[in-house]
Amino acid sequence: MPDRYAVIGNPVSHSKSPSIHAAFARATGQSVVYAAVFAPLDGFAATVAAFRAAGGMGANVTVPFKLEAFDLATETTPRARAALAVNTLTFAADAVRGDNTDGVGLVRDIEINLGVEIAGKRVLVMGAGGAARGVLAPLLDRRPAALAIANRTADKAVELAGRFRERGPVEGCGYHALGTSRFDIVVNATSASLVGELPPLPPHLFCGGALAYDMMYGSEPTPFLRWAREHGAARCTDGLGMLVEQAAESFFVWRGVRPDTAPVIAMLRAG
Ligand code: ATR
Repeated sequence: MPDRYAVIGNPVSHSKSPSIHAAFARATGQSVVYAAVFAPLDGFAATVAAFRAAGGMGANVTVPFKLEAFDLATETTPRARAALAVNTLTFAADAVRGDNTDGVGLVRDIEINLGVEIAGKRVLVMGAGGAARGVLAPLLDRRPAALAIANRTADKAVELAGRFRERGPVEGCGYHALGTSRFDIVVNATSASLVGELPPLPPHLFCGGALAYDMMYGSEPTPFLRWAREHGAARCTDGLGMLVEQAAESFFVWRGVRPDTAPVIAMLRAG
């Protein structure tokens, strides 16, 4: 019998995680099956318990349950505690381990797949919600020259920056306060792309050679990536690589084997 894993979310039927993990299992020869499991909004813990009782060995957790997964875990990793969110659960005999692989997924996509070093760069993260919080510690650990967090609700960005100040040079502000600052790497961690919107960005945001990165992905470029292309970003990329990288890190947490991500990213790009 293969070992059972799943992604638990609401909605979850659109998830690419089952095909990503199936590709990892094939390529590494691991005996793994991976399903998409829908949880009712008020039934996350019960869904996890049922999956575990049915022999599940671990689960990825997606929208909107990453905070609940953090609370449900009986042990958490430092990177889950920095994010205050869990996207990877591992079921042990008497423990539920909570980890977070989102931030390392973003960093690996930027540094390894895109070949852009973060050290010494000026980085802007747009957004101050859960998605932003999950990537701040791994970004700061790569030693950028400066990391700005800009948010529609400026207070939330200031508050979030305050929580990470000991980790590196981070400041929070509203979009207007960005003024004429320029950045080498701009990451959209807002949910604006989901509804076809764009944060109110100042026009001269990008340094020469800058990377614009939207953590969302889809068949069409997001409004932010279209805007970035028109406003001088040298490279524009969506979050598909991050999705595959966070999946690979979860696979490594569960199986102790690190799958090769490039063929899987290529497979998904080819549709
Ligand atoms: P997630 O878990 O995806 O981060 P969230 O915690 O609800 O979701 O946070 C959504 C983020 O997207 C917030 O930073 C939000 O800004 P506010 O804090 O001001 O609400 C940001 N956001 C959503 N829609 C936006 C829009 N149209 N323009 C700019 N920012 C937007």
